[in-house]
Amino acid sequence: ASYDGSIERASELLLVGLGKNDKWSREKLRKRTAGVLGYGKCQNAKTIHLLAETFSSGPIRLDDTAEIIPETLDRADYRFDKYLSPKKDEPKREIDSIELLYSKKANKNSLVTALGRSRVIAEAVNFTRQLINEPANVMPPRELAAYARKVAREGRLRCQILGPSEIKRLKMGGIIAVSQGSHEPPQFIILEYGVAHKKRGTVCLVGKGVTFDTGGISIKPSKDMEKMKYDMSGAAAVLGIMKAASRLKLPIHLVGVAPCVENMPGGGAQRPGDIIKMYNGKSVEVINTDAEGRLILADALSFTEKFKPKAIIDMATLTGACAVTFADKAVGIMGTDSALVEKIRRAGETTGERCWELPLWEEYFEIIKGHHSDIMNAGSGHGGTITAAMFLKEFVPIKSWAHLDIAGTAWLDSDKPYHARGATGVGVRLVLEVLRNWK
Ligand code: BES
Ligand code: MN
Ligand code: ZN
Repeated sequence: ASYDGSIERASELLLVGLGKNDKWSREKLRKRTAGVLGYGKCQNAKTIHLLAETFSSGPIRLDDTAEIIPETLDRADYRFDKYLSPKKDEPKREIDSIELLYSKKANKNSLVTALGRSRVIAEAVNFTRQLINEPANVMPPRELAAYARKVAREGRLRCQILGPSEIKRLKMGGIIAVSQGSHEPPQFIILEYGVAHKKRGTVCLVGKGVTFDTGGISIKPSKDMEKMKYDMSGAAAVLGIMKAASRLKLPIHLVGVAPCVENMPGGGAQRPGDIIKMYNGKSVEVINTDAEGRLILADALSFTEKFKPKAIIDMATLTGACAVTFADKAVGIMGTDSALVEKIRRAGETTGERCWELPLWEEYFEIIKGHHSDIMNAGSGHGGTITAAMFLKEFVPIKSWAHLDIAGTAWLDSDKPYHARGATGVGVRLVLEVLRNWK
């Protein structure tokens, strides 16, 4: 809305210091925005008016603010509280509306466009967070596949879900091996958007969809195991990205693939020492059944060959080692195409999902080179994030590939100023930012 008179009518004015002009940044704007929201809630405000133009200064342009402020508010507002009984005596502190005001008429169009875009993106992020936060009893592979169908229906995407019999017929040995310890059948999600843009090249997204990771026979310790419902964060991010891409009408051909399984130690479970044959024909000795993500991703990566993609980006909560290295501060990025890696890294600076590259030197392959099989699914322990990526690399069908290890960043253990604890939806804004600028 436009400005006129709203300052005079306001019952309270909040002046926000932005610090030094040249130090002003997107991330600071996100923090200030959260501060304003928090303050408004404390004061029991019903309406907040923000003077959009006053937040754009230095490197931050007006349409950046119109994108960042609403997106941050929407993300800050999300809570995973559907299973909580409503508290009767505690009055809810809800803000009815937040308005972005402008003074120059000329700014209206760019503000409205940016606002619309940011709300689509924030909605996709919160959709992804919801899928992740849902417990594994509510969100098994079949339910995740049902959501993929829903995304396809609403966004007019092509959707194909392969069930256990098709997965067996296609000889996807990695997916079969991981899923066989669970009563939950595996599901292989394929979503396709923008077939009309094929001429401009295809990008494939691949997301790890382990709806619960017990470790299998190489079972995990019980401490923190409840968190392992977030082991499908990569798959959930792919669904969120596909949802937003279609609503934003991105001019690109996108294929989203998500192998979904539950990793359980049931009677039919694979054993350490099993040797399996993967979709692309390579043999793998399963040293550790807890290194399951790379087994299902390997099949999904080789499967993307049929789309003849220009680039492949995968997202996975792949290694505990990545969380050990970066905590929740950075995504581990690795790849075979330095230009693609750099594109993603840059996008991360913009969205605040920072990425840090680790090397894929061929010497690392020695650690997972097999004795009785082509490859082993786990090495001796050290360099875990890199050896996991080296494993995936063996199954990538094209030159241009980037792998995002989101094990540290997909989940927050405690509340942050503009983000509730739990799933973060990392990867959604990041990859959308990459795709928006795709040449
Ligand atoms: N999903 C886990 C990785 C993980 C662990 C993510 C902790 C977030 C927090 C993955 O399937 C796994 O278990 N990886 C093993 C690999 C090892 C057995 C080679 C790991 O990182 O310990
Ligand atoms: Mn595991
Ligand atoms: Zn896992």
